[in-house]
Amino acid sequence: MKRVFSGVQPTGNLHLGNYLGAIRNWVALQEDYECIYCVVDQHAITVFQHPAELTASTREVAAGLIAAGIDPEKHILFNQSQNPDHANLAWVFNCIARLGWLNRMTQFKEKAGKHRENASVGLYAYPNLMAADILAYKATHVPVGEDQKQHLELARDIAQKFNNDFKTNIFPQPEPLILGTATRVMSLRDGTNKMSKSDPSKYSRINLTDTADDIAQKIRKAKTDPEPLPSSADGLAGRPEAQNLIEIFAALSNVSRDDALAANAGKQFSKFKEELTDLAVSVLGPINTEMQKLVSDDTYIDDVLAKGAERARAISEPIMADVFKTIGFVAP
Ligand code: TRP
Repeated sequence: MKRVFSGVQPTGNLHLGNYLGAIRNWVALQEDYECIYCVVDQHAITVFQHPAELTASTREVAAGLIAAGIDPEKHILFNQSQNPDHANLAWVFNCIARLGWLNRMTQFKEKAGKHRENASVGLYAYPNLMAADILAYKATHVPVGEDQKQHLELARDIAQKFNNDFKTNIFPQPEPLILGTATRVMSLRDGTNKMSKSDPSKYSRINLTDTADDIAQKIRKAKTDPEPLPSSADGLAGRPEAQNLIEIFAALSNVSRDDALAANAGKQFSKFKEELTDLAVSVLGPINTEMQKLVSDDTYIDDVLAKGAERARAISEPIMADVFKTIGFVAP
């Protein structure tokens, strides 16, 4: 059986980069896999989160996923903290993973920066919790972006070491799913920086909660250069903003970059931006409308998450019982 697990942090708004880079692919995977999608609130608190914002963000991210096409009836959608098996298995993995392995994690080095001594223990152990997320369900496939590949490698190492140490084959080796058209969306203000929820400029990103007017304004203000659009990929060299807008156009219209270039060759940015706005509004508008409806009803979202968590626990509980027995923990 092929089982997908993936997680998204409830910190800040979902934006176009999340949608084109990840969520859209999660939606497509529902055709071929049994999918478990998790709003990872326990990962979020590795850096301080204001409680009311964490609550609102968890609901908003869940609403965004449903609005974008995740089906919480056919698949499983829940927030991490509602299944204690994640934290339970993460503790076991804290005892399997070696300090040397975690010391190599580039994301920790980046996030902790110069203030390593002051980073939370949770931020350091973050990859062990991520391994637990995946392996508590024996997930076989994990859609991840470039930035999470190293963490997935670590999950594979942990699975292997557990199996070796205890002479078992409980855990599968989860495979990364690198999806063909996953687009790396860059900031609208700087084509060399990834679109990010932590960018201080709100004009740098298009949020899934943006109205048509917001989208139009942000695309109008997007940084460009004075040249018209080129006809082929060679002409994008040294023009990161042009490249980004063309790639967004291609992703939103489901065509290749070359086809997007062919369709827009020689256009001035003013004209291209109008078309890109119409395209973005046509794709994001319906998601936005659905999301507004969903976020206005907390009880519906909370109910979806609670039911999802119950189904998640039904899968992880027998796996955890097996893990505990393997370790030698006494249980009735
Ligand atoms: N660390 C991932 C991120 O920040 C989120 C995540 C948590 C995840 N657990 C996961 C992704 C398990 C894939 C599988 O993007």
